[in-house]
Amino acid sequence: MAEVTRVTDWVEETLRFDASSQMLLRVARVPLELHGCTIPEGDRVLLLVGSANRDETVFPDPDRYDLDRDTSRLVSFGNGRHFCMGAPLARMEARIGLAELVKGVASYDVDPDGIERVHSINVRGLAALPTSVVLR
Ligand code: HEM
Repeated sequence: MAEVTRVTDWVEETLRFDASSQMLLRVARVPLELHGCTIPEGDRVLLLVGSANRDETVFPDPDRYDLDRDTSRLVSFGNGRHFCMGAPLARMEARIGLAELVKGVASYDVDPDGIERVHSINVRGLAALPTSVVLR
């Protein structure tokens, strides 16, 4: 089944395109000079990873969902010493779930009126996605 071979790209491009953690918080331990701005020591800095994943200098045409793009620089799981410890598990779960979906489902239909978003300042995702499926 050809679609199963695209599952890894599907997971990675979705992580980039619609990051489920949208922002991270840091405190500047030392004064920082970034892009011509000075961040004083002790200031809190909100890092918008959802926005970084749409940085056009890293991801050309970033608002296009593209399974063929290079996603190796996405920051959906953070970066550096606090990089998400569960990233390999989250990726594996997503790959297994989507591969099973592709193998078992011939087509699906989403009811847009029933879609509910998670209400959270940080987490982006769906609380409800009513879907009817036709099994293979
Ligand atoms: C799609 C799913 C997930 C996303 C988008 C995600 C995202 C993140 C992000 C952005 C951070 C960095 C926080 C920071 O730098 O302040 C983080 C840290 C962390 N995540 Fe995840 N995560 C996911 C799943 C998981 C899972 C499944 C686990 C555990 C089984 C997990 C455990 C952790 C832990 C322990 C840290 C803290 C690491 C540290 O501070 O050193 N995450 N996650």
